[in-house]
Amino acid sequence: MKFIRNALVGTTALCAATAVSAADLEVTHWWTSGGEAAAVAEFAAALEGNTDHKWVDGAIAGSGGTARPIIISRIIGGDPMHATQLNHGRQAEELIEAGLMLDLSDVAAAEGWADIVNPTSLLDSCTVDGKIFCAPVNIHSWQWIWLSHKAFADAGTDVPSNWDEFVAAAPALEAAGKIPLAMGQQAWQSNGAFGVMAIAIAGLDAWSQVTIEKNAETAAGPEYAKVFEAAANARAFAANSNVQDWNQATNLVITGQAGAQIMGDWAQGEFQVANQVAGEDYTCLPGLGVNEIISTGGDAFYFPKQDDPEIEAAQKELAALLLSPEVQVNFNLKKGSLPVRGDVNLEAANDCMQKGLEILATGAILPDGNQTLSPDTQGQIEDLMVEFWNDPSYSAADAQERYAAIIAEAD
Ligand code: GAL
Repeated sequence: MKFIRNALVGTTALCAATAVSAADLEVTHWWTSGGEAAAVAEFAAALEGNTDHKWVDGAIAGSGGTARPIIISRIIGGDPMHATQLNHGRQAEELIEAGLMLDLSDVAAAEGWADIVNPTSLLDSCTVDGKIFCAPVNIHSWQWIWLSHKAFADAGTDVPSNWDEFVAAAPALEAAGKIPLAMGQQAWQSNGAFGVMAIAIAGLDAWSQVTIEKNAETAAGPEYAKVFEAAANARAFAANSNVQDWNQATNLVITGQAGAQIMGDWAQGEFQVANQVAGEDYTCLPGLGVNEIISTGGDAFYFPKQDDPEIEAAQKELAALLLSPEVQVNFNLKKGSLPVRGDVNLEAANDCMQKGLEILATGAILPDGNQTLSPDTQGQIEDLMVEFWNDPSYSAADAQERYAAIIAEAD
C-alpha cells in the first residue's frame, strides 16, 4: 500500500490548490469479457480503496470498434464521461486538437512518468504539442497465436512451434472435427490477425515499410503477395468459426473445439479465468513462432475536460493511481498485458507473460498499427479485411491490390 500512498502524495501535492472532495467518476471502457472484467475491477478497487472517490463503471459491450464512436460522440456532444479507455496511439488526436481533453502534464511531471514509462513510445503516443493527454496503463501485443493442447492431441498431431507447422497440422485438425483457426466475425479481429501474419510472413522490414513508411510499392510487392496467400489459407481454416466476439473465439481454443487463435495477449485473461495453465493446457507462440517480437499496442486512459476544479482534481488522482506500482501489477496480471513500468515485480506472471516480458526486455518491439496509421486508414483496412475474410471468392491478388491502394493514400 505504501506504493499507492507515495503515488497519491504526489498528486495530493498537485491538488493542494483545490480541496479534493469525493467525486463519482464515470469511467468508460469496452472490457466486458471475463478476463477484462476481472482486470478493470482492480482499477475500481484501487480508486475506492485509496481515495474517497467512487468508480462509476461505464462498460460498453462489444469491441473497441463499437465503443469508440459512442465515447467520442459523447465527448464531442457535450456529455463527457470523467475518464475513458482508448488504445495507445491516434484515436483521441482530434479530441485533443479540439481542446476537449484534460492536460495531464502536471501529473506526469509529479509522478515522473518520463522516467517510469517503458517504452517511452507509449508516452509519446499520449503527447501532443509537448503536453501529455493520457495515462498509458498497459502493453498489449497482437503478436501471438494461442494453441489448444487438447485439440492437437485429439487430432493425433504435435502442438506446432511455428506458423508453417500449424498450416501443416490443419488437415489433421479438420479430420478430427476441429476448427483449425478460431476467428470472431468482426473487422478488427481479421485485421489484427492479418497484421500478425504480415510481420511473420512478409518480415519486419517489409512490414515497417508498409505500416510505418506507408510504402504502397512494398504493399503491392512479392512479400505481401505471400501474406495475402497465407491469409486466404487462414480464411479457409476459419471457415467454420461461427462466433462474433473475440473471447468466444478464445473459448473455442480453451475448450479444444478449435486448434488455434491469432489474437492479442488479452486472450491470456480468458485462459486464466478458465483456470488453464500455460505450457500444460495451451501454448502461446509470440510472432507466430517466426519473429519473436511484441507490438506495443494496449490501452491508455484519457480524461475529458469538465468544468469543475474538484472533478479535475479527482481525475488527476485517478490518472496517477493507474500507473502506481501496485495497481500496475494487480491490473496487468489479470489483464494478461505487460505493465508500462519496468520497476514492478511480475514474478506471479505465467509463462506466456514471462515470454512477453523477456521479449520486451530485449527491445524487440514494434509500434501497433493504432500508433502509426490514422483511425480513418485503419477503418479502410478493416473494411477490406472483413470483406476478404468473409468472401472465399475474393482473391488474394484482388485484396492485395486494394490494400496497396489504401496504403498509397494512408495518413
Ligand atoms: C483492445 C484493447 C484490449 C482488449 C481488446 C479486446 O483494443 O486494447 O485491452 O481488451 O481490445 O477487447
